[in-house]
Amino acid sequence: MGTHIIVFYPEGKCAEAQAGETLLSVAHGLGVALDSACGGQGACGKCKVIPRLGKVDAEKSPLLSPDEEKEGYILACQARVTGDAVVEVPVESQRGRLQILVRGEHGLETGAPEGPLAERIELEMEAPTLKDNVDDLNRLTRAIKEQRAVEASPGITLPVLQALPKVLREAGWKVDALVGEMEGKTHIFGLQPASERKPVYGLAIDVGTTTVVVQLVDLETGALVGTAAGLNDQIAFGNDVISRIIASEEQSERAAALQDKILETINRLIEELITKHELEREQIICASCAGNTVMTQFLLGIEASALRREPYVPAARHFPGVEADEVGLTIHPRGPVRVSPAVSSYVGGDIVAGTLATGMDEVEAVQALIDLGTNGEVAIGNKDWLVCASCSAGPAFEGSGIKHGMYAGPGAIERVEYDALSDEIRCRTVGEAKPRGICGSGLVDTIACLLRAGLIDRAGRIDLGRPTRRTRVVDEEPGFVLLWGEEIGREEDIFLGENDIQNLIRSKAAVYAGLSILLKRVDMKASELEQILVAGAFGNYLDAENAVTIGMLPDLPLEKIRFVGNSSVAGARMALLSAEARKRTEHIAAKMTNFDLSAESDFMEAYVAGLFLPHTDTSLFPSVMEKCAERI
Ligand code: FES
Repeated sequence: MGTHIIVFYPEGKCAEAQAGETLLSVAHGLGVALDSACGGQGACGKCKVIPRLGKVDAEKSPLLSPDEEKEGYILACQARVTGDAVVEVPVESQRGRLQILVRGEHGLETGAPEGPLAERIELEMEAPTLKDNVDDLNRLTRAIKEQRAVEASPGITLPVLQALPKVLREAGWKVDALVGEMEGKTHIFGLQPASERKPVYGLAIDVGTTTVVVQLVDLETGALVGTAAGLNDQIAFGNDVISRIIASEEQSERAAALQDKILETINRLIEELITKHELEREQIICASCAGNTVMTQFLLGIEASALRREPYVPAARHFPGVEADEVGLTIHPRGPVRVSPAVSSYVGGDIVAGTLATGMDEVEAVQALIDLGTNGEVAIGNKDWLVCASCSAGPAFEGSGIKHGMYAGPGAIERVEYDALSDEIRCRTVGEAKPRGICGSGLVDTIACLLRAGLIDRAGRIDLGRPTRRTRVVDEEPGFVLLWGEEIGREEDIFLGENDIQNLIRSKAAVYAGLSILLKRVDMKASELEQILVAGAFGNYLDAENAVTIGMLPDLPLEKIRFVGNSSVAGARMALLSAEARKRTEHIAAKMTNFDLSAESDFMEAYVAGLFLPHTDTSLFPSVMEKCAERI
């Protein structure tokens, strides 16, 4: 017996594995997204892989077609490590992943930007003569129109006009103009000699209630250059949007303190990107933001009191474009900042951006998008119609309100597997860093594991009588030890208590109830949906099977459930890079019909029914009940 190196691609993950270990176990240990619906029994045929280099000892399986056998397919759960190997996980075996940021049809990695929010235009002009003595501004706009084949002349800001004569002449008529879009009109907001040329960037920003994500994007290639994420400093005013609105009402200048906090957060993340990528602030020339309506209003310094009082009216659904300086973003001071339009007080620009990113507004098939941010928003529809609702999921999915919870940053436990026989836990963390806490996807995994192993009952209560050393009472609260302090070099264990479990149960009940009631309003069944797209600030992905196990998502074939990551920032990024995408967000917001679930009496009934694992009505979750019966 010895150890061997196994590499899985396309994820590029590798590990040392024991000879004799199954490829499935090595893959799961590494957190490779490999399907395994039957849990490694050799019965489902989902864990197909292709060894590309080296050798493994694989058993034949009737679940593989002759063609697959010819192509070298094997079942990972029926193959044992015998030496070093490189193993491909084909697309059909990749579980729960939809790589929204690199999808061909809407992805941004595959093409150059088309009509970015702002751009640098390189210009070379003839110097004026007695025959051609057109004024400097006309000479400049004429050159821009020639380059961009646009009819209307762009406008110009006064500071640029003031500098224009000098810059043109000193630069020998070779200049770069910074041109941005504001409210559908273009304007020149910067000018510099061509000799000082530097790359220009834009930001895509997801202004989340709990977490804020800032992406740095190359405006010439559309490439994602870097990402910075952190907790929203507004948390000092409360975890949810309602407490923050109440806190803002106690301030003398209602929205100012909350605006300062969100700007501090975003500007700190911008600073991080500037330092890491050695940029000058003025190289970042525009920003596209998406957030829920409350966050959007606070970002723009608009007081939000009316959002929490009947009849729940937002200040606007379409927000005007502003200059960075006007709003307080520390990028090029005159660069345009655009905010995604909202649908209602509680369905904001984040779900509009998410709808854009998933492309559900462009296809015939009816799909559902569930954004599991702090608010929990659901949209259903297709190219002809869209409906939406907010379902107050609470911040548990973002790790907030959970004792050892954290957002999905480095060190967050994002995948958990529990082997009841050996009482061993396998965890994977974001960035493979030392475990610091547990994020939404890790929580969903843990609760699903505990339910299947019978360590919690259907109400989420810990069974202290089970033969495991991991259940215990800490500070009078029964719970489950995920990682021992000594394993991770800290004094305290990473522990999930009953209160944490209850918080997550409340969140999942709200999501399931929101989806059920919205489906009821459009007279559809969950089984009629082509796909359920799940977005949120989890780790790299959410395990669809575990999400169904806890009753967060309906009991559908797993291939119908796809995790799409942070669709809000993906949509903000599309709007940053494409004029067409910006138009689409306006259409989506205008087309979406909002249902206010707080005013719907059946929502509360549906919510209460969801406060069990997986649900009060177990007939809705036949596959889960079957698995629990097998394993408990
Ligand atoms: S996991 Fe089901 S066949 Fe391998």
